[in-house]
Amino acid sequence: MRKIIIDTDTGSDDAVALMMALKSTDLQVEAITTVCGNVPVELATKNALMTIEVSNRQKPPLYVGADRPLMRELVTAVNVHGEDGMGDCNLIHPTFYPEDKHAVDAILDIIERNPGEIEILTIGPVTNIALAILKAPETMKMVKHIYTMGTSGFGPGNTTPVAEFNVYVDAEAYKIMLNSGIPTTIIGFDVCLGEAALNKDDMDVLLSSGKKEAAFSVHCNRSLLEFNLQRSNEHIVDLPDAVAMGVLLWNDIVLEDKLCYCYVCTTEEAAYGQVIVNDGSKLAISDGYAGHAPNATVCKTIDNQLFKKRLIELLVS
Ligand code: RIB
Ligand code: CA
Repeated sequence: MRKIIIDTDTGSDDAVALMMALKSTDLQVEAITTVCGNVPVELATKNALMTIEVSNRQKPPLYVGADRPLMRELVTAVNVHGEDGMGDCNLIHPTFYPEDKHAVDAILDIIERNPGEIEILTIGPVTNIALAILKAPETMKMVKHIYTMGTSGFGPGNTTPVAEFNVYVDAEAYKIMLNSGIPTTIIGFDVCLGEAALNKDDMDVLLSSGKKEAAFSVHCNRSLLEFNLQRSNEHIVDLPDAVAMGVLLWNDIVLEDKLCYCYVCTTEEAAYGQVIVNDGSKLAISDGYAGHAPNATVCKTIDNQLFKKRLIELLVS
C-alpha cells in the first residue's frame, strides 16, 4: 500500500483529487495538509474537511499549514473557484475538525516515522513543503517522491502569460522545493487542458450515478464551469489537481515525459513565477542543461481518455 501526504489549497479541483485518493484502494492517505492559495487557509481547511466527510471512506488526519506565502502577500483564485472555493453553492458544513499540530511538523513527523516510503502530492502553492525543507532538510531527503501540480509545463501560464497559479502564489517556495534534491514529477497546467477536462457528458454521468460524492465533485466545480462558459463558451471543467492525482495513481497514463532542469523565476516582476523548463534539447545550450543537473521529470503528454475513464470509474465506485 502506497503511503501519501496531500498538500492542498482546497479549491474545487483539489476536492476531486482528494476524493480520488480517499476512494482509492491503492493509497493510504497518511495526512492531508492545507495551505493558502485558491482561498485563505481557513477556507481550504473547511473545504478539505468537507471533502473527507462527503467521500465517506478513509478519514486521514488534517493539519492546517501556512496562511501566507514565504515572501509575498497572498493572491487567491476566488474569481475561478468561487468565494468559498467550492462553487458558492452552500456545500460546506463540515462536522470534522483539524488536528492541533501544524502541517509542517506533521509532514516531518510522518516522514521520520516512514523513512523512504512517503510520496507527497502537492496541489497548491508549496509553502508548507518549502518550510519543511528549511526546517529539516535531512528529514525531507527521506521523501520517496514528490508529485506536484505546478508550472505551465511546456505551455503558457494561466495566471500571467508565463506563470501558473500554484507557482505564482509562492515562487520562492517552488524554487526551494525544486532545489531540494527530492525526486520530483511535475504535472504542468498544459497537460490538464483540452480532452483532459470533464465535458458535459462526463458531468452528466457523475450526476446520474446516484453517488453523493460523484455529484458533489460536479456541484463544487460550478464556479469553474461558469468561468469557462463565460470565457470561451465551453461547457467544461479542467481539473489540474485531479490530473496530478491521476499521474500519481496511474503512471501508465503518462505517454511522454522529459527529464528537465527547471528554473524558477523570482526576481523580475514580469516573469515572477515563470518556470523555465529545459529539456536538454535546445541548440544554443551545447551541454544540454547548461551545467545544471536535471531536477524534475516533466509530463509532456497524457492519455486523456484513459485518465477520464479511470477518474469517472473511481468517483462512481
Ligand atoms: O493552476 C492550477 C492550480 O492552481 C490548481 O491546483 C488549482 O487548484 C489552483 O490551486
Ligand atoms: Ca489546487
